[in-house]
Amino acid sequence: KLKVVTIGGGSSYSPELIEGFIKRNDTLPIDELWLVDIEEGKGKLEIIGNLARRMIKKANADIKVFTTLDRREALKDADFVTTQFRVGQLDAREHDELIPLKYRVIGQETNGPGGMFKALRTIPVIMDIIEDCKELCPDAWIISFTNPAGLNAEAVFRYSGWKKFIGLCNSPIVIKHRIAKLLNLDVEELRIDFAGLNHMVFGLHVYYKGDEITKEVISKLGEYNENLSFSERFETIPYTKEFLNTLNCIPSPYLRYYFVKQQMYEHAFEEASKGGSRAQVVKEVEKNLFEKYADVNLDVKPKEIELRGGAHYSDAACNLINSIYNNLCDIQIVNTLNNGACSSFRDDEVVEISCVITKDGPKPITMGRLPIMVEGLCRQIKSYEIMSAEGAMNGNYSTILSALTINPLVQDETVAAAIIDEMLEVNKNYLSKF
Ligand code: NAD
Ligand code: G6P
Ligand code: MN
Ligand code: MN
Repeated sequence: KLKVVTIGGGSSYSPELIEGFIKRNDTLPIDELWLVDIEEGKGKLEIIGNLARRMIKKANADIKVFTTLDRREALKDADFVTTQFRVGQLDAREHDELIPLKYRVIGQETNGPGGMFKALRTIPVIMDIIEDCKELCPDAWIISFTNPAGLNAEAVFRYSGWKKFIGLCNSPIVIKHRIAKLLNLDVEELRIDFAGLNHMVFGLHVYYKGDEITKEVISKLGEYNENLSFSERFETIPYTKEFLNTLNCIPSPYLRYYFVKQQMYEHAFEEASKGGSRAQVVKEVEKNLFEKYADVNLDVKPKEIELRGGAHYSDAACNLINSIYNNLCDIQIVNTLNNGACSSFRDDEVVEISCVITKDGPKPITMGRLPIMVEGLCRQIKSYEIMSAEGAMNGNYSTILSALTINPLVQDETVAAAIIDEMLEVNKNYLSKF
């Protein structure tokens, strides 16, 4: 029997996760699900806990749900720990997105200066969780969805000594579903070999029923893109046919923040000046979701959850846990140590990559080198991640200044310093090391 603990249980993504556990109840016999949150999230936690119990009852599943603010009580003898918390909640995300815009820089809550501050707030909490795990559940796997998922994982592998940690993102699965839809293919028969970094991952080869179809996919993506309206392209992959053909693989949607940078900045600026930064939009979505979740007649996951970016999160997390537990040895895309799999990175760097998922964790598959066109960008992002992780641990101003200076969205020491000074001020309650 299994005990699963979810840190940040009050997240509006929780019903996704619970639905995923219910669906897999036959092969993944979870006995106890502990949802952990903090005082600020208590109201949301209780609403989620009650909805979870209704969903489980309706499905006739046999999972006991516990809600608690006592993380240590929850972690005792856990088998799997998942994380989906946001230090500072959506108010902090609003600063992450809005402050850098004042300096003509895209904030971006994962890749940009916003992402660095999210990491600085988050990494100390992850380190505390790991210290608790060492004592209370030393054999548990930690599956961490908390962003920036790749940078956080880099810090964990570098500094915590904890090995059973996996960073997880839903975007590779989203890309796979989009490609299936675009070419009208059965997603179950589609395999995409991914390599790169979190939010900078590339689909290098695509196979359908075992045959390589990479060329067709890239040409279809190019055509599709040409037929999109200007605003639609912001949400997908705003690259020209020529760009895609030269790149010769499926780009991460986050590539647009770097290679269509000026337009992305203007777009973000415009949205923000209308009070419509993503944080502000998500606040509204979340408010409506929780009104739904609180309805005692609701006992399934509501459709409106699709308005959040974490689509397929449930499949990503639950398939991963299922494959580790049952030693399925199937292929999934996760953030783990490279160990020689992608030659664009060192062995001890965290990559997002296709892995065989075994009971001993993910085993990355050999992928060779990234396309030369994006290898440099990825290397630079990795340097930025390593330096940000170091800064989160040592609390040195000069380390984070250097990290942000080399962030490809900034690349200017004066601008980096100005952003950092303002961000340190508004984040001070969460940054005890600085
Ligand atoms: P949210 O703002 O709703 O926060 C989730 C919960 O975390 C809240 O209930 C909050 O009270 C709680 N929390 C805050 N600090 C905590 C702490 N120290 N310990 C325990 N709980 C704490 O966030 P959200 O929008 O639901 O997103 C949750 C996380 O998942 C974020 O970090 C987000 O970036 C991440 N996310 C990741 C992906 C991915 O692809 N990896 C996709 C979507 C969301
Ligand atoms: C994508 C990414 C996540 C990111 C999310 C944002 O799915 O993979 O890492 O956090 O979108 O979604 P949101 O609804 O919070 O803007
Ligand atoms: Mn992600
Ligand atoms: Mn190739």
